[in-house]
Amino acid sequence: MNTAPVVAVLGYPIHHSKSPKMHGYWLDQMGVSGYYVPLEIHPDNFEAALKNLPKLGFSGANVTIPHKERALEIADSVSERARRIGAANTLYFDVDGKIHADNTDGYGFITNLKNGAPEWSAKAGPALVLGAGGAARAILDALITGESPKIYLTNRTRERARDLANEFGDTVEVLDWIDKNTVLSDVKTLINTTSLGMNGEGDLGLDFSQFTSGMAVTDIVYTPLETDLLKYARKRGCTCVDGLGMLIYQGVPGFSKWFGVAPKVTDELRELLLS
Ligand code: ATR
Repeated sequence: MNTAPVVAVLGYPIHHSKSPKMHGYWLDQMGVSGYYVPLEIHPDNFEAALKNLPKLGFSGANVTIPHKERALEIADSVSERARRIGAANTLYFDVDGKIHADNTDGYGFITNLKNGAPEWSAKAGPALVLGAGGAARAILDALITGESPKIYLTNRTRERARDLANEFGDTVEVLDWIDKNTVLSDVKTLINTTSLGMNGEGDLGLDFSQFTSGMAVTDIVYTPLETDLLKYARKRGCTCVDGLGMLIYQGVPGFSKWFGVAPKVTDELRELLLS
């Protein structure tokens, strides 16, 4: 007899993760039999823990900070996008216990933008990406895959932006953090991937008077849902998309594959995740 799928999310720490709430909601709402459990695993124990999950009967897992890069190294196979991004967030275990690694963060980013701004296309014009951490990697890959003609990348620590640009090729041009306003009139998509704006703290130093109504603006910060960036961009007539959808949509491919049903993204889920 088949048993209900069991899936874990591995992180250190893990208490902040919204994934158990989200997948739990989908399981309940769709009446699917299955389990989704948070596991706090110290980095020293990560390899052993991950390798044992298939043997324990798990169907797959999400991995979050600080395990995303290590998961890629341990996996038996890796999707092209996960390899390009250099990190995994979604793992599938096959019947032989082999671990397949994928990264759905870029998918979540693009799907969120397309839902919030149906007219949006990466091809429309240059993008400006603020920040060069883990989230920026997936977003750069998604923009390049979407055929963005040009990506300006800027980060407080310029070397991190330069290293990322070197990996992603000629489409990406690095700007000094202080120079980010110089390209605004040319930009069609602006993405904040830094933590600035979280809980209303920090200032990105943007000149909103140069924001144009043809710009799509999105923020990976979703606490608050309307960050100052989105608030002032909206006042300038930009199309604004909040970051909560990126978190939600990155979870869709995993849930679909582990549990065999495509989950629904509802307002009720958004409210639950913000509560
Ligand atoms: P993640 O993997 O979630 O993207 P991260 O790797 O810690 O997280 O990246 C956080 C991003 O926010 C980085 O781009 C960081 O800039 P640095 O590389 O210079 O650290 C950016 N960031 C955090 N605090 C910042 C601040 N006060 N001003 C400007 N950028 C900031």
